[in-house]
Amino acid sequence: MVRPARSVHGELRVPGDKSISHRALMLGAIATGPTAISGFLASEDCLATLAALTALGVGVQRPAPTEVRVHGAGHHGLAAAAGALDMGNAGTAIRLLTGLLAGQTFDSTLVGDASLMRRPMERVATPLRAMGARIDTTDGRPPLRIHGGAVLRGIDYALPMASAQVKSALLLAALYAHGTTQVSEPAPTRDHTERMLRGFGVEVASNAGRVSLEGGQRLTGCQVAVPGDFSSAAFFIVAGCLAAHQGLTIRDVGVNPTRTGLLQMLRLMGADIELRPHGAATPEPIADIHVRASPLHGIEVPQELVALAIDEFPVFFIAAAAAAGSTTVTGAAELRVKESDRLAVMATGLAALGIECQLLADGLRIQGGRMSGGRIDSHGDHRVAMAFAVASLIAREPIEIADVANVATSFPGFPQLARAAGLDLTD
Ligand code: S3P
Repeated sequence: MVRPARSVHGELRVPGDKSISHRALMLGAIATGPTAISGFLASEDCLATLAALTALGVGVQRPAPTEVRVHGAGHHGLAAAAGALDMGNAGTAIRLLTGLLAGQTFDSTLVGDASLMRRPMERVATPLRAMGARIDTTDGRPPLRIHGGAVLRGIDYALPMASAQVKSALLLAALYAHGTTQVSEPAPTRDHTERMLRGFGVEVASNAGRVSLEGGQRLTGCQVAVPGDFSSAAFFIVAGCLAAHQGLTIRDVGVNPTRTGLLQMLRLMGADIELRPHGAATPEPIADIHVRASPLHGIEVPQELVALAIDEFPVFFIAAAAAAGSTTVTGAAELRVKESDRLAVMATGLAALGIECQLLADGLRIQGGRMSGGRIDSHGDHRVAMAFAVASLIAREPIEIADVANVATSFPGFPQLARAAGLDLTD
């Protein structure tokens, strides 16, 4: 339950980046020598990756919840797991691991929770098969069966959709393939895999939407400092745009330009957001983000920003509901295959709160207006639940949000941080 609140304020830090935490574990697992990860996101999704790697024979220590030491098993050091690997709610984990496991000598089976078992997997299986992998999906979905001992060869693949998960799965398989693998993207997507592979000593070329990697390269363990997750910061960025009358600062956030499309979208709407970069900016740029409330107006979201803000749409739609005039996003059909159908679930939720919106095949049109209270079903989607918590800053009555347990998949501690910032959130 969230009751109406009218202001957020202060300074906060969000937990570590989910995408980077998954990748640090996986690359550390196949590297030679130890990898020390600091700022690790101790969320259910990343812990599912950690448990899977442990089941594959990798030694992992956690001296503190956000500190992980991975004892790299080496290029050919993974071993068959005793049973199916349960990836929980984590799309990134199942897709990237499918790429990593495609080139191993042993068989693997990957499963997940009810949401993950509905998500499309042919997008990774099809190009991996073209590389020589033997993978069975179940009507295109998990369980995934990956048959070991396949001989992989590099391919030149044009991604049919903008997906960093598919790109990353192919790059991980490419490490085990003969020859060069090239992946081209229809629009830029997050490039954490490319940046981190270089940190582990792998040569990766990227140029004009095309990434290529020569097979057989070995990784060397290293230190990975995980920045704050921009996608978690996004809830407070929007909260600040709506109600930080004295300003709100979010410290040490990863601001990789392939992640920060939301900032550009909000600025087009009239938001007052300032970035104060610090640190070395390699491999990942970091900044403090300072936000002040300002009046927002509706926009047509530029196509080139959609993939750069793909996880931020649930909370962006709350900003659109608060803006004067109408906001339209199109070209965002990928939102239908996330942890929930985020277009349909957000449209239903906004309508339940009295906001006029039109569901499009590949987007949403939202008419900004006065928001009432009501009951929302998050459909077990963490980002939907947190987005409607932020909506309490513009709602006139309480919002009851059902099915919120999955917030812990990406943002453990969200309720506490949200309360400290000024939201009136109760269990
Ligand atoms: C992610 C890529 C995106 C994003 C997901 C994390 C990643 O998925 O939605 O939350 O870490 O590579 P897609 O690749 O399916 O767009």
